[in-house]
Formats: sequence, structure tokens, C-alpha cells
Amino acid sequence: MSLRFRVNLAITLLVVIFGIVTAYILVDNMRKSINEEIEAGTRVTVQLLETVVLSARMSGTAGDPDENLVAFLQHVGRVRANEIRLFDAENKLVYESPPSVYKRGRWAPEWFAAMVRPPIGDFQLNLLGGTVVVTPDASRSILDAWDEFKEFGGLLLAFFVLLNLLVFWLLGRSMRPLRSILDGLSEMEMGRFHARLPDYRLPEFGAISHTFNRMARALEDSIAENRRLALIAQQSSDAIIIHDLAGRISFWNAAAERLFGYEAAEIVGSSAALIAPPERKEELRETLDAIRGRGRVEHLETQRLKKSGELVDVALSAAPLVDPASDDVIGEICAMRDITEHKRMQETEEELERNRRLTQLIQARLEEERRSIARELHDELGQCVTAIKTIGTAISNRDDGTSRETRDNAGTIVSVASHIYDVVHGIIRQLRPSALDHLGLRDALQEAVSAFESRHPDIKVDLDLGSDIEGLGEKINITVYRVVQECLTNVARHARATRAQISVSLQTGLEEGDALHVVVRDNGKGLERHVTDETTRFGLLGMRERVQALNGRLEISGSSGEGVVVEAVIPTVQAAVAASVD
Ligand SMILES: Nc1ncnc2c1ncn2[C@@H]1O[C@H](COP(=O)(O)OP(=O)(O)OP(=O)(O)O)[C@@H](O)[C@H]1O
Ligand SMILES: [Mg+2]
Repeated sequence: MSLRFRVNLAITLLVVIFGIVTAYILVDNMRKSINEEIEAGTRVTVQLLETVVLSARMSGTAGDPDENLVAFLQHVGRVRANEIRLFDAENKLVYESPPSVYKRGRWAPEWFAAMVRPPIGDFQLNLLGGTVVVTPDASRSILDAWDEFKEFGGLLLAFFVLLNLLVFWLLGRSMRPLRSILDGLSEMEMGRFHARLPDYRLPEFGAISHTFNRMARALEDSIAENRRLALIAQQSSDAIIIHDLAGRISFWNAAAERLFGYEAAEIVGSSAALIAPPERKEELRETLDAIRGRGRVEHLETQRLKKSGELVDVALSAAPLVDPASDDVIGEICAMRDITEHKRMQETEEELERNRRLTQLIQARLEEERRSIARELHDELGQCVTAIKTIGTAISNRDDGTSRETRDNAGTIVSVASHIYDVVHGIIRQLRPSALDHLGLRDALQEAVSAFESRHPDIKVDLDLGSDIEGLGEKINITVYRVVQECLTNVARHARATRAQISVSLQTGLEEGDALHVVVRDNGKGLERHVTDETTRFGLLGMRERVQALNGRLEISGSSGEGVVVEAVIPTVQAAVAASVD
């Protein structure tokens, strides 16, 4: 039943009750006033008749029935609402008052008359020769009351109709916003959350409109947020899987499809154990137990099974899925990342590190070997050559009749031995720069440069050495020395340069720590293109290996015609650590 109808019904009931009560009071009042009126009228009539009859008797003119009385009655007619009838001694009607002309011919309905009719009977006045009967006639008063009652009824009916129409119209007008509110709610129900209500003039509907719009906005925002989150989860590069505490999968994103080979449609509803290899089932159970206890799993490196049966290395992070309404853990959100590549890189790095250590070891052994060869050359060959020289000198200096030819040959032996001695010393210096052992890096480099300049007088070498390059350890010293040595050799062999610059300095305050900076540049013909890309010669390769073995880096640059720049950066801390490992 509509609100309008209900309100109209309530008003109708009220008006009916009001009408009944008022009608009752009205009828009661009418009954009382008719009673009073009739009573008073009858009393006056009777008194009048008694007075007339009494005065007629006293004047002695009275006959029964008296003609004068008849004349009087005829003259009086009706006295108020009373019918007067005169009977003679034989009870024959002598006179009867004329009927009332007031509202003649009309009568109140009997049911109404019965309600208001006064209980007053006839009044009889006995004469000497007859009787006067006064009958109170309330019919006219009752008719008046009836007319009044009808008027009241009409008014009440008109009021009732008007009131109902007014209320119906007012309600219709006031309830009009309800239609648009209902429309708005229907829009919401259909998922169109952009629906908004207008501002209404009625403050109550205005408040509803504001609340509705606020709610719609909040709903729209939260749905947009949810959609965004779902999109992020769907488009994440990590495989994201959601399953309940029984392990049943309910969400499977695109990355998971790519990683494991299962389509979302085919795996949603299946158990998460499907992608766990048999030996990891226990781990899966433990993870689920941790999640159940609101724990988290961070970056667990494990393995999972692809649809193809192939194992894949993954890093797994998992968190409990909590129902915001009940605050209960209802499942697990699990993110997995393929770390196969990462693992491969790790293995490669480890292998590189092993190679670096091996190179370092080889270099150390090589240096050791060189040192021992240099020692042998110096101690054995040097001694022998010295002995040969001494003997040769002695022979060439003999004056005991040794032939001239013999002495000349001995002289030749001495000069060849001297040459061998110089060559051997040169070799020894190459093998083991003794200055490095005795004087340190600065002097060893200066010695090497001056030896180079004396061998190649057409190439001028500038040597710029930092003040703090000493005390960096034997490994750094020998590496720097070998780099400079190889660079100078290359300048002499390939560059066709007239000038070379060498700078060695310690750079401090760098983000990655202190490092020794070695730069060798020349003004020669520069590198041919293929050399830097695919060199298989030992010189540059050996330099790089030496530097990398100390965690450093070596760069060679210089295009054709611009000379060559060799730049080595050797971290002093890492180098010291690397050195201490061996
Ligand atoms: N300063 C330079 N100027 C021009 N070319 C150079 C220079 N240094 C090296 N090269 C080029 O780089 C090549 C490789 O040099 P690398 O030192 O590795 O080998 P190499 O000197 O030829 O032989 P080795 O193995 O005996 O050192 C050289 O053959 C040369 O062509
Ligand atoms: Mg070389």
C-alpha cells in the first residue's frame, strides 16, 4: 500500500471519527434543545389556555365548550409547536388548530427524528363541558435540526474531500524526489556508480541526497581502487597466486600463466600442490602453517613445477589474506619470481670470481717463477759468464809466450762474455725488476722509463707519479709495473709515436673506495678498429687479467690517428683483500 494511500486512509479515519463524535455531540445538543424548546412551548401554551379558561369562568361567560374559547383558539391558531384540539362533553372534536405551514410537506427521516424526539406526551385541560388537548409537535424543530445536521454533514464531507485532495496533492509534490532517489538506487544496483542525486528543496531529502552522493563517491573510489589493485595484480611481472587455506587456487595472474604454463581458467579451483614438486610438498605445508599463524614468508628461494614438468627456480614471498569483516585469515597471497636467470648470473659471477682467483694465482706463480729464473740466471749464468770473462781476461793478458792469436781470441771471448752478461742482466731486469724489491714502485718505474728511453731515444717519455703511490703492496706494485712495461713495449713496437705520457696516482674519496689510477697515452697511430674488439694477442689480454684479478678494470681507447690511451683503475682496498686471500 503506497504511502500516499496510507496517509489518505489515516486522514479519512480521523475525519470519520471526528465526524461521528461531532455528530453525536451535535445530535445530543439538538435533542436537548428541542426538548427544552418543546417543553417551554407546551408550558406557555398550557398556561395561556388555563388563563383563558379561568378568566372565562370568572366572568361567568363560560359555556362548555365555550364559543368564546373556540373563537380565541381560532384567533390564536397554533401556539408555538403545539397542536390544540378541543373536544365537547361527548368527546367530539370541536376545534383543531391548523397544521403548521412552516416547511410544510417536509419531514426529517424517522431514524433521525427518533434520536432527537423529546419524550413529552399530550397535555389535557379539562373544561366543564369538554376537554382541550395540547399535543406538542416537535416535527418542525426536528426538521430544523435535520437541516442543520445535513449542513454539518455537507460541510464535513466537503472538508473531508478538500483535506484529502490537499494532502494527496501535497504528498505527491513532496514525494516527487523519492522517484529520482529510487532511480538513483536502481542505477547503483545495476552497477552504474556514477549516478548522483540533485539537491532537493526539502531539507530531509537534501540530507538523503548528500548522504547518497557521498556514499556513491566513496563506492566509486573504492571500486576504482579495487580495479586498480586487481589490474596491478593481473599485470604484475611477478606470478601472483591466491589460494584458500585448503590450498584451492582462486586467483592466477597473467605472469603465473606465463611462468607455469597453466591458463587461469584451467587451474583456478585446483590445488596449489599441483605446482609443487614432490620434494617440496613439506615446504608447502610449512608455508601454509606459517600463513595460518599470520606469519609471512620473504624471498624464499625454492623450486616449482611447470605444466610441462620442468622445474623452475623461483623466489617466493607469501602473506596471509585477511577478511576485513571477520579479521580471520582466509587464504594466502603468494608472489613468485623466476630466478633462473638470476641463478645463472650468480653462478657465472661465482665462476668469474674463481677464474679471477686462478689468474691471480697463476700471476703470482709466474712472478715467482720469473723471480727464480732471474735468480738462477744471475747466480748461475752470471757467475759462469763472470768466470769466463775473468779467465778470458787472464788469457788475453798473459805474457808467458801465449800466441797472439790465442790472446786475441781470449779478448773476443771477454767481449762476447761481456755482451752475454749485459744481455743476461737485461733479461734479469725484464724478468724481475729488482728495483721493485729494493727501492719500491716509484724508483722501479723511473728505472724502467730511463732504460726504455736509452733503448728508444726517439721516443720521449713523461712520467708523472703521485706522492702517495708507495706502500700499496707487492701485488699492486708488480701489476702497475707490468702494465707500464707492456704499454711502453707496445708504444715502441706498434705506435710509431714520438711521445708517451705515464701517470700513476692514488685517487681517494671515491664512492667505491680508494683506487690507484694508471694512465699511459702516446701520440702514435692509434688502434685499428678490430684490435679492441677481438684481440687475441697476449699483451693487452694479460694486462686486463692482471688488473681484473685485483678487482680493477682496464680500458683501452684511441681511434686511428689519435694515439692510444690505456687506463687502469685498481682499487687498493679490494686488491689488499684479494691479496690477503691467497
Ligand atoms: N700503443 C699502441 N699503438 C698502436 N697500436 C697498438 C698499441 N698497443 C697495442 N696496439 C695494437 O694492439 C695489438 C695487441 O697488442 P698486444 O700487446 O696485445 O699484442 P702484441 O703487442 O702485438 O703482442 P704481445 O702479445 O707480444 O704483446 C697490437 O698488435 C697492436 O696492433
Ligand atoms: Mg704487446
